Amino acid sequence: MERLDKFLSDAGVASRRELKALLKTGVVQVNGRPMIDGAVKLDPAHDTVLLRGEPVEAPRRVVLLLHKPAGFVTSTDDPRDRTVMELIPPRYLRQGVVPVGRLDKETEGLLLLTNDGELAHRLISPRHGVEKRYYARHAGTAGEEDVAAFAAGLTLRDGTLCRPALLRPLGPGESEITVTEGKYHQVRRMMASRSMTVTYLRREQEGTLSLDGLPCGETRELSEAEIALLVREKANSSAPAPQGEG
Ligand code: URA
Repeated sequence: MERLDKFLSDAGVASRRELKALLKTGVVQVNGRPMIDGAVKLDPAHDTVLLRGEPVEAPRRVVLLLHKPAGFVTSTDDPRDRTVMELIPPRYLRQGVVPVGRLDKETEGLLLLTNDGELAHRLISPRHGVEKRYYARHAGTAGEEDVAAFAAGLTLRDGTLCRPALLRPLGPGESEITVTEGKYHQVRRMMASRSMTVTYLRREQEGTLSLDGLPCGETRELSEAEIALLVREKANSSAPAPQGEG
């Protein structure tokens, strides 16, 4: 059992102080009856709380998979650009989700968001490099020497060393790249180091998760089973710590 005002503030409805005034207006209902007393006790598992007729969800761990479109920055706030937060349904924003890691403004594809800070920290820890697969369109055509250079571990133009990575040429000007780290502009810089300027980039897979037909701009909430798999996958990964920002 917990107090109604604590339940509402934990759910992100308003601060404890603001709630007092809000409750007085009678917009909160518990089990169909208006409730103005924040001290009343409820059982979030069984009692239904409505705010202006909309259900208020108990705070819980949320992990979202967003198919990010180009043109949005991976940030919670930006003075110039549109951010990925504009693509997230308000009910998840109220639960406090933030991006895990980042995709460049012009990169499309799979981006995770969560309201679980500890999970986010584990997911972006460079020590546990999960495989991330990208589809790229680029100048030139990847050949056997490029594949070998990726497999050996590239040195970027600024001298940064990369972990061994997989380059799979798909045809003229098209490749698939799989990396286990997330350095700044990593795939674009890896391809540039082999004189193949990337013109389009999409992250298609991260560990066991893939876009799997999710339309561009849409989000999907992961199930508890998918989250458990993600956490296990991280724990099992044994990639050595990368150099640089990871
Ligand atoms: N590599 C890049 O160059 N950009 C991304 O957004 C992700 C990986």
